[in-house]
Amino acid sequence: MRLLLLPLFLLLATCDGGKVGDDTASGHHPDGYDVPTVHGMDAKLQVEECTDCHGADLTGGTDAEALSCDTCHAAEWRTDCTFCHGGTDDTSGAPPEDIRDNTDPSAMGFPAHAAHLQDTSLHAAFDCATCHVVPTDAMTPGHIFVGDATAGSADVDLSASRSSAGEWNGTSCSNMYCHGSGQGDDGAVEATASVTCGDCHAGPDDGGSGMSGEHREHLGEGVACEDCHSATVTNDDISDITLHVNGEVNVALPSGMTYSGSTCEGECHREDHRGERWD
Ligand code: HEC
Ligand code: HEC
Ligand code: HEC
Ligand code: HEC
Ligand code: HEC
Ligand code: HEC
Repeated sequence: MRLLLLPLFLLLATCDGGKVGDDTASGHHPDGYDVPTVHGMDAKLQVEECTDCHGADLTGGTDAEALSCDTCHAAEWRTDCTFCHGGTDDTSGAPPEDIRDNTDPSAMGFPAHAAHLQDTSLHAAFDCATCHVVPTDAMTPGHIFVGDATAGSADVDLSASRSSAGEWNGTSCSNMYCHGSGQGDDGAVEATASVTCGDCHAGPDDGGSGMSGEHREHLGEGVACEDCHSATVTNDDISDITLHVNGEVNVALPSGMTYSGSTCEGECHREDHRGERWD
């Protein structure tokens, strides 16, 4: 009798053990598991590996009971980027909503998706690849169901961005070019911060503090940002977002003046700048 029960026990243990509240012979999950917020949350947080029983591509396991997820979901669910997250602001998949179904950005670890993806007052819109390795569907390795070593927590990868040396520690970014002075990978910013001129490099009213070369002297003489960066700035506002935080310093001097990258030539504010060094 014992010998006969053992194989049956092993069979059940493979695709039937585990969940509290389930005591039927064929079932694995508790009652009410078809409710989206119940099994959906388990899937998103990878409470267990759905692929173990429902098949490598989730179209059904070898145990006929472990049905295909497509039995109930719309056909394109694996490539629908708002099936599990996003969809509140746009269809890109970016939070809000986050994977725990929060729709209030202030309740999220990184409330600044919209500031980077939609707010174009300071720079051109970024895409997901600036900060993440972007999956093509729900089965992409590293994303959720296959080979995700950090279940329930998003992976941030800045290596393809202008801040390729940047680091995210869960609450803030450091070694950032984008949030820096414009002189290197020297910026840091809290995820909850809102930034304006003067938070990264000195702003129009800061007298050139910490800026390179002859900034301080010129600003002290009443020369304005837009006099030397006329392509980027007008009246202390960014006038061409494609030139700001684009990875290069855009110098556009008044007519008659040129800048070689280290020295200036020409006449400006009635002063001859022949061969004058910037640094
Ligand atoms: C009995 C029907 C049924 C089965 C089987 C099923 N689902 Fe669902 N699931 C739903 C419904 C209904 C929704 C709501 C979305 C929709 O209408 O397509 C949903 C939504 C989800 C969501 C999104 C939840 C959210 O709010 O973000 C995830 C994730 C999910 N299912 C995972 C799975 C996985 C993985 C499988 C297969 C292992 C599976 N489901 C099988 C019915 C089902
Ligand atoms: C150990 C095997 C096993 C694992 C792991 C497993 N399932 Fe299942 N699943 C089953 C079996 C067997 C059934 C059919 C019997 C039942 O409903 O419990 C099933 C049924 C379901 C159903 C339909 C439930 C209903 O009431 O109609 C959903 C939804 C589901 N699974 C989602 C998931 C999700 C999401 C995961 C991963 C978080 C997962 N399963 C992991 C074995 C498994
Ligand atoms: C400026 C950088 C940046 C950009 C651009 C960005 N993200 Fe994120 N994203 C983050 C950070 C930082 C986190 C928080 C990671 C953590 O929880 O530690 C995050 C988290 C997430 C999460 C998980 C949220 C949760 O519930 O934990 C998803 C999903 C996500 N991003 C999707 C996207 C998508 C889709 C895009 C493009 C449309 C995008 N992100 C663009 C930085 C970015
Ligand atoms: C079945 C649910 C589901 C679907 C569909 C889905 N995602 Fe995700 N996604 C998640 C979960 C859960 C996370 C949280 C991170 C984790 O577990 O690693 C995540 C995280 C992300 C992240 C943060 C980086 C990472 O991998 O951690 C990006 C970017 C992302 N998803 C983009 C997309 C895009 C683009 C699509 C559509 C092609 C998509 N997602 C479809 C569930 C899903
Ligand atoms: C999030 C950080 C950040 C904020 C906020 C910021 N800047 Fe910048 N800014 C930079 C970086 C980094 C550079 C370095 C050059 C580049 O990549 O465009 C820069 C360069 C500049 C330049 C040099 C010209 C150019 O095209 O490179 C000017 C002028 C400038 N910023 C003005 C402003 C003004 C005005 C504001 C407020 C409206 C502002 N910045 C807010 C990060 C910032
Ligand atoms: C007299 C001309 C002049 C004025 C006025 C000026 N800049 Fe610049 N700026 C330059 C030059 C030239 C460079 C390029 C330095 C280099 O080659 O590295 C530069 C570089 C920068 C950089 C890159 C980082 C750095 O310190 O070199 C930033 C950011 C910047 N300017 C912002 C501003 C802002 C904001 C204002 C107004 C508050 C301003 N600049 C006013 C000429 C000027």
